[in-house]
Amino acid sequence: MRDVGIESLNVYMPMYSLSLAELAKARGVDPQKYRLGLGLEAMAIAPPCEDAVTLAANAAAPLFERGLVERDEIALLLVATESAVDHAKPVSIFVHELLRAHPACRTYELKHACYGGTAALMTATQWIASGASRGRKALVIATDIARYDIGSAGEPTQGAGAVAMVVSDVPQQIAIDFRRSGSFAEGVFDFWRPLDRREALVDGQYSVDCYLRALDGAYQDFERAGRNGDLKSPLPITDRFGVFLYHVPFPKMAWKAHRRLLEIDWRLRDEEEPPEECFAQGSFENSVSPYLAACRAVGNSYTASLYFCLATLLESHGERLRGEQAALFSYGSGCCAEFFNGVVGPGAGVETGVQRLLAQRRPISVAEYEAMRTGAEDDKSAPPDGFQGRFHYAGTERDRRRYLPVSG
Ligand code: HMG
Repeated sequence: MRDVGIESLNVYMPMYSLSLAELAKARGVDPQKYRLGLGLEAMAIAPPCEDAVTLAANAAAPLFERGLVERDEIALLLVATESAVDHAKPVSIFVHELLRAHPACRTYELKHACYGGTAALMTATQWIASGASRGRKALVIATDIARYDIGSAGEPTQGAGAVAMVVSDVPQQIAIDFRRSGSFAEGVFDFWRPLDRREALVDGQYSVDCYLRALDGAYQDFERAGRNGDLKSPLPITDRFGVFLYHVPFPKMAWKAHRRLLEIDWRLRDEEEPPEECFAQGSFENSVSPYLAACRAVGNSYTASLYFCLATLLESHGERLRGEQAALFSYGSGCCAEFFNGVVGPGAGVETGVQRLLAQRRPISVAEYEAMRTGAEDDKSAPPDGFQGRFHYAGTERDRRRYLPVSG
């Protein structure tokens, strides 16, 4: 069986950024709470002409334009989102149309909060590995806009973005070990969004506990899978993996997760001395923090957030890390989580769009952000100057959503 994984990857983020120092000032909060307490510098804000469909199509279109994949090679298009635009018509079929995907390409939308992107990636890798793909490829897109009520505790942890990944048996960027992964699922109300709401509801502190409990459960299952039920690894986890990528609702969560993972690993290995806090901090600075750069500036992009960390790794550190073992943890509220691993591929070190798009963003004021948030949803405004996308949302006509290519 050949390796399977991500052959190429491209990101997209909205053009506006809101400084969290500005937001803190407007909300009467100490800016250090957002900067140090949550680890955030800014968050991406989508203009009214963007939604989960345009973010997804705008992430994927450059893969075709740059000749990284051909349309007729893609036989499975999976779009993961929790920002769906219709109860019945999936985001994936709008994206299928905008990208002019082949009619013989199977497509559907997946949802399980932030875990959906990983559910799609795992489905695609296993489809390729099973041979059902018959040499063809999958396009997996994770796309979301995170929204909480204005003035709520969740407000600084919003964001938006999409990551498009071509999955094949030529894993130039990262090979995914589809034979070994650990899962954890449990019905909880830590974060949810009733059908009539645009903003999510969340039990914030409880959601942090649920995330960490799911990490414990998924990692134990991963360890069991790797050694036929034996939980005791001969080597500490930091000797087995040089890179750790986490789902990042806010960057401080990755620090909490990493510290907890080292503690769980120590407990499972039955060692005498627990890992010291300063060891955990050093391990975090080397093996986690460098890959959080995009998330610090984009905020929570839900399904896409873990893959923004991967995109940062591949673009800014990929060449140095070729051949490195990476551990990945995906969490979706509600909840379902997966701990899995991969090997950084021989093609890592190419542009994924992170740096370029971050550099092209336009800062907006808190007043501009609030006006965008409270504006009518069915906004037919043209894309603003400096818009980087290929497609925009053009409002509804006879209850049908319309999307147009950006002219010029
Ligand atoms: P909060 O209650 O406003 O904040 O909400 P806090 O009081 O917990 O403070 C946060 C941190 O800032 C604390 O650090 C404070 O000590 C520190 P910690 O104890 O955690 O290490 N702090 C300061 N630091 C420096 N200077 C100061 C200062 N003041 C305080 N002056 C919360 C925080 C994250 C709960 C909130 O923003 C929230 O509800 N966010 C949304 C939910 C969320 O992100 N949950 C994460 C886990 S669930 C998940 O990841 C799934 C999700 O992505 C959705 C999905 O799956 O689809 C959300």
